[in-house]
Amino acid sequence: MTQSPTANWNYPTAVKFGAGRIKELSQFCKDLGFKNPLLVTDPFLATQPMVADAVASLKAAGLGIAVFSDIKPNPVDSNIEAGLKVYRAGHHDSVIAFGGGSGLDAGKVIAFMAGQTRPMWDFEDIGDWWTRADPNGIAPVIAVPTTAGTGSEVGRAGVITQESTHTKKVIFHPGMMPKITICDPELTVGMPQKITVGTGMDALAHCLEAYCSPFYHPMGEGIAVEGIRLVKEALPRAFKNGHDLAARADMMSAAAMGATAFQKGLGAIHALSHPVGALHDTHHGMTNAVFMPYVLVFNRRAIETKIARLAAYIGLEPSFDAFLAWVLELRRELGVPHTLKEFGVGKENFATMSQMAPEDPTAGGNPIPLTEADALVLFEKAFSGEV
Ligand SMILES: NC(=O)c1ccc[n+]([C@@H]2O[C@H](COP(=O)([O-])OP(=O)(O)OC[C@H]3O[C@@H](n4cnc5c(N)ncnc54)[C@H](O)[C@@H]3O)[C@@H](O)[C@H]2O)c1
Ligand SMILES: [Fe+2]
Repeated sequence: MTQSPTANWNYPTAVKFGAGRIKELSQFCKDLGFKNPLLVTDPFLATQPMVADAVASLKAAGLGIAVFSDIKPNPVDSNIEAGLKVYRAGHHDSVIAFGGGSGLDAGKVIAFMAGQTRPMWDFEDIGDWWTRADPNGIAPVIAVPTTAGTGSEVGRAGVITQESTHTKKVIFHPGMMPKITICDPELTVGMPQKITVGTGMDALAHCLEAYCSPFYHPMGEGIAVEGIRLVKEALPRAFKNGHDLAARADMMSAAAMGATAFQKGLGAIHALSHPVGALHDTHHGMTNAVFMPYVLVFNRRAIETKIARLAAYIGLEPSFDAFLAWVLELRRELGVPHTLKEFGVGKENFATMSQMAPEDPTAGGNPIPLTEADALVLFEKAFSGEV
């Protein structure tokens, strides 16, 4: 008898998608019963008109509001502790997580921790550790992404760096999913080209790794292939003209699709990238973009047929080589460094990072099991540029 598959599928939250929809923020707060939200963002965005406008509109609507922005790109545990102090001292009842992945993750984790009694690291995404959390202690969140990449706005996790071990860790709970997400592509038009590329390549990495992961999730797989097609059509346009709102909208969609799809799993791109981000403080998405072709070739024997099918769907010749050539050309067009060396990452931490990569929670989704020795070879290849 053949066995029929069993799986857990979770689909995103209420997504309010469209240019200008940030104007509905106060109404959404009221709909959810927020009276005194804490807006969590990063220090740069805190100085920008989009945050000032949001704060003004919330005040005008009679809501109590404060801003917490003392977070690093790749937020760290002490940022969460500081945010929690502000949240509790201000008697806030909810969080508006506003920003790129860093602001979104920090906001979501502060809201998650608001009413917990155990320390944050007790809720790392390991086994069923999330069941240790008190679901009644999780404050509700509205998410407002300002980059188009991480998809954290539709995700149930936050990535926080543990300062004592320099390790990026995932804090997970199903209740961390924002209640409402406002995907307003107008908020992304001011992204500098480098951030457009880095975040866009993160969306691509999410879709690609989800598609290649061996777990059973046909819906996730379908979302991933359309996400990849959107990146192919829209990322070069958003790169050339940041004000192309149609391209920005497609990228915002691809980002949310990537994070929806990666319930199916991620893989070695992320497993290699996380230690580099933790030890060298590089941009997450750009780091993924550097590793992408090396990991594709490493996985070739497991994914060749599948990638040929994907290549056909996105309008390429149906072969692994055509897909690889497209990835290499896209990186060139967008100015992604081809090697770790060009990216400014030296060899000094290769041994440590090769131990860390297979331990990263994303490594388990790679179609070929990633060993320490494999990771070292991949770091060396990405350094020398030998795809
Ligand atoms: N939760 C998840 O599922 C998930 C997935 C992938 C990555 N991440 C995490 O997300 C973080 C990276 O997020 P990111 O790539 O969005 O970058 P980011 O949030 O760190 O932002 C990068 C820079 O862009 C600026 N910026 C953001 N929006 C802007 C805008 N509209 N205009 C101009 N500048 C803008 C920020 O101020 C910052 O200086 C990492 O910590 C990564 O680990 C989380
Ligand atoms: Fe990512």
